[in-house]
Amino acid sequence: MTDSLDKIVSLCKRRGFIFPGSEIYGGLANTYDYGPLGVELKNNLKQAWWKYFIQSREDMTGIDGGIILNPKIWEASGHVKNFTDPLVECKKCHHRFRPDKLKDTSKCPDCGGEFTDVKMFSGLFKTIIGPVEEDGLIAYLRPETAQAIFADYKNILSSTNRKIPFGIGQIGKAFRNEVTTGNFIFRTYEFEQMEIEYFIPADADWNKIFEDWLDYMYGFAELIGLDKKSFRNEEIEEKDRAFYSKRTIDIYYEFPFGHDELWAIAYRTNYDLSKHQEHSGESMEYADDETGKKYIPHVIEPTFGLDRTILALLGTAYTEEKDRIVLKLPAKLAPYKAAVFPLLRNKPELVELAQKIYKDLKKKMNVAWDDRGNIGKRYYSQDEIGTPYCITIDFDSLTNNDVTIRDRDTMKQERMKIDKLGEFLREKTS
Ligand code: GAP
Repeated sequence: MTDSLDKIVSLCKRRGFIFPGSEIYGGLANTYDYGPLGVELKNNLKQAWWKYFIQSREDMTGIDGGIILNPKIWEASGHVKNFTDPLVECKKCHHRFRPDKLKDTSKCPDCGGEFTDVKMFSGLFKTIIGPVEEDGLIAYLRPETAQAIFADYKNILSSTNRKIPFGIGQIGKAFRNEVTTGNFIFRTYEFEQMEIEYFIPADADWNKIFEDWLDYMYGFAELIGLDKKSFRNEEIEEKDRAFYSKRTIDIYYEFPFGHDELWAIAYRTNYDLSKHQEHSGESMEYADDETGKKYIPHVIEPTFGLDRTILALLGTAYTEEKDRIVLKLPAKLAPYKAAVFPLLRNKPELVELAQKIYKDLKKKMNVAWDDRGNIGKRYYSQDEIGTPYCITIDFDSLTNNDVTIRDRDTMKQERMKIDKLGEFLREKTS
């Protein structure tokens, strides 16, 4: 791991963004829990995504499908047969690797030992439905959220009266039994995806729609404060694409450990709906009222890893300045919108007014309270977790009804009337 990734991992644990999973039992490799601040950041990001991709567009709608689906879905989609990775194991140290990701496949990079033959390894997590294991039904934890959208496609059409083109989005957990994991939350067994399946006519100008979606994805990158210069599009060559994809772009980002895939966009043709029609016996055809044509819709799929987006945001926001560490998160994503301090904790009149302001603001947004140490230490502590504004209640506040409000990035302080705080913060942070 690079130095800056180490620093982010350490800040995440120290301040309650992300903890190693099951730590009191020695942990469980590559599993993580989002702590009190992490869950706020994650929820704010999900909300921003949902608003931008689903609610603000007339051609989009959403679902929240199951994690466990009928296993026939994964047979139809090809995952049971094809969702595999090659694996080799070192005969000496027993470390496992994906040979397609190694620079030298002749010997183990960790100990120089000899490798076993290549085996194919399923990326699906299996589980059993039913109280008795022997009689149970083998099911899978979904490796992508997309398939619930395809399985629900007919119900969505009939319940919403949608006309093609339109899209369905979903945010939720996905599970992959990865051969190699690592780089903190970049590649884990359990992660969240935010996916869109956008249904288009069979004879549509798919490349134009693909390019429009790519642009729209970059609009989201800007909205959440990712750095334009840190992006790179990797056009995936035919030999490396999923066999059903006619075009795939992996959207790379500069993470603290180097460039790697953040998001992706693919033209999945009508492969998925055709396969579900074939396996379920249910027609997936769409009847166009205007042209009278019937066809199985094609699909453009923009897909986003939520945890990778969090890592990209943390890497971009993490800033070391002369006397402080600042997480320069966009205000709308920051866990706390403001922190409220009484200048002195042993002056009941200051504490009383500060508590009133804190409680009033807390009804409107997530705000923090801090009365420990001195003001400098409190600023330091809030800068490190990305709180955009700090509000201090002092003796003048008691007579003038105003407070000092300090901006995280500029460190400038100004006086503001107490009754203006709510409106100011809502405007600046939502
Ligand atoms: N439905 C298409 C699909 O699942 P993918 O490229 O395999 O495509 C989409 O995954 C996104 O999910 C990736 O771009 C990445 O952000 C995220 N992702 C995939 N595997 C992951 C893992 N093991 N850990 C964390 N995020 C992962």
